[in-house]
Amino acid sequence: MKIVVHIDDAAQWQAAIEKALPQATVLTSDAPAEARANADYLAVWKAPAHLLQEQAQLKGIINLGAGVDHLLKTPGLPSDVPVVKLRDAGMGELMADYTLYGVLHFYRSMDRYAQQQPNAEWQPHQVPEKSHWPIGILGLGAIGSLVATHLSQAGFPVLGWSRSAKQISGVECFHGDAGLDGLLSQVQCVVTILPDTAETHGILNAKRLAKLPQGACVINPGRGSLIDEQALLDSLGKDRKPGHLRGALLDVFCEEPLPANNPLWQHPRVIVTPHMAGPTPLSDAIDQVISYLRAFEAGEELATVNPDAGY
Ligand code: GLV
Repeated sequence: MKIVVHIDDAAQWQAAIEKALPQATVLTSDAPAEARANADYLAVWKAPAHLLQEQAQLKGIINLGAGVDHLLKTPGLPSDVPVVKLRDAGMGELMADYTLYGVLHFYRSMDRYAQQQPNAEWQPHQVPEKSHWPIGILGLGAIGSLVATHLSQAGFPVLGWSRSAKQISGVECFHGDAGLDGLLSQVQCVVTILPDTAETHGILNAKRLAKLPQGACVINPGRGSLIDEQALLDSLGKDRKPGHLRGALLDVFCEEPLPANNPLWQHPRVIVTPHMAGPTPLSDAIDQVISYLRAFEAGEELATVNPDAGY
């Protein structure tokens, strides 16, 4: 079995796969083209098009991340090769940590203290009761549901929204368009963890942002396309004084890296992080990768990505 790996730390993945499957030939994508050709499997994150185009006998593709938007848009992706993606695989906990950081940032008024400090302004702010500070999670897949559960365990009322109805203990679940509007009108903070699909594109548009209560905040560790960036800027208002929205913690953007002239960089109430909320931790993810490879080889049924749905 020949596997070609493409991800930032590919050599480490190569070594980990070789260790688990000593009989396999595992190459990184910078191997010579003749060596890379005729692979049985690709294990990839943001693969270049040529890597897909040069393969003639692939049996499966493993997406080494949660979102398949990049892979599905890559020219040359064969339509007859099954694609599987990592589900949670340690990313959920990292995303939960990132989200909790953002929630506490706003809940404990760290944004306000950051603005006060340059003026030596000693002004404590009241800590609201957690029960009065509900959080909305848009997207209740493997990662979203774990993030929702973590926040609920941290003591916040958590409202979750998904396309179809779900049930998660400790989370008040909503679905459908009406459910989304109902959720938004109740939360102090909205967190977007949906996949990037035609249906989720701009799901937080001007109309929906306006449904959030005055002074709410936004955390986006999911995908940039979920939020209309101009509408977000408009609802944040221009200067240090909150507009309709109080602030935002954003990890993902319509264009990445976020261009230097994008006003989000300069906005005093926006924190920009460079798509680092949920990297794929090799030590947690390797078992899932190996079990996918074994299941492919054994001809077992796998939960594959549905390219039409986009996840
Ligand atoms: C990261 O963005 C991922 O989708 O895994």
